[in-house]
Amino acid sequence: MTRHACKIGPTLALVLTALGTTALAHGDVKPQAVDVSTLPPIEGDWLTENPYRVDAVGEEVWAEALRIGASGYNQNCARCHGLEAISGGLAPDLRFLEAEEYGDEWYVERFREGYTQNGITKMPAFGELLGQEAAWAIRTYIETRPDDGAMEDVTPELAAMRDDLKAGSADGAAAAARLQEIAAEIETLSGAPVADSAAWRAANALNADPTATAKAAEILTIGLSAAK
Ligand code: HEC
Repeated sequence: MTRHACKIGPTLALVLTALGTTALAHGDVKPQAVDVSTLPPIEGDWLTENPYRVDAVGEEVWAEALRIGASGYNQNCARCHGLEAISGGLAPDLRFLEAEEYGDEWYVERFREGYTQNGITKMPAFGELLGQEAAWAIRTYIETRPDDGAMEDVTPELAAMRDDLKAGSADGAAAAARLQEIAAEIETLSGAPVADSAAWRAANALNADPTATAKAAEILTIGLSAAK
């Protein structure tokens, strides 16, 4: 190797490493469009409070906001803020933002503007590309994440119920009632009144159709594997 090459080698490696880190941290973060056509549109200026809360819009719209928000979150936010909004340390844990106007204002400012430090984009701006319906749907998803500690406490019982439901040996209506009780005990970290837990989803499936035991078992399986 010539002297010259020796000098360039490490420099190039350094540049490449820097590029690699950049790509990981905030490279391919083109915001992914979120389909909000099934949500009530929000006209005019950006709101400062989540309009899709269950007490404002009722369970049906709220559940739709949750569904859309989950997908929007996974596509746009999870890579930095963590799967299920449980932060791995790269960016703040969003589950703790208070589910009221104070937390909402902070949330929506970051969502719209992103965050740049010393000329480096730490978080891209999403406002113009995704719009407010997507912003508030994602907010709805984030604020209803269950406290993972609370999930851990009920996991053994949920796993046992899942096995009975799967085996077809459980009474659907009774299981729905018990799941609803368990769901009510699972709190959010944001203070939002209802946690979007596997217990809550399974109870809903059984309330809609008490014979849907296989479906309820599947919902619990997915929830339990996410909670670990
Ligand atoms: C490329 C990584 C990245 C992506 C993608 C990203 N964020 Fe962030 N986000 C960050 C970082 C880093 C911070 C911390 C900035 C700071 O120090 O205030 C942050 C901060 C925030 C905050 C303020 C949190 C607090 O406690 O102060 C909110 C709210 C937020 N992000 C929401 C979102 C949402 C919603 C999405 C998806 C639509 C998203 N972010 C996507 C990196 C990211």
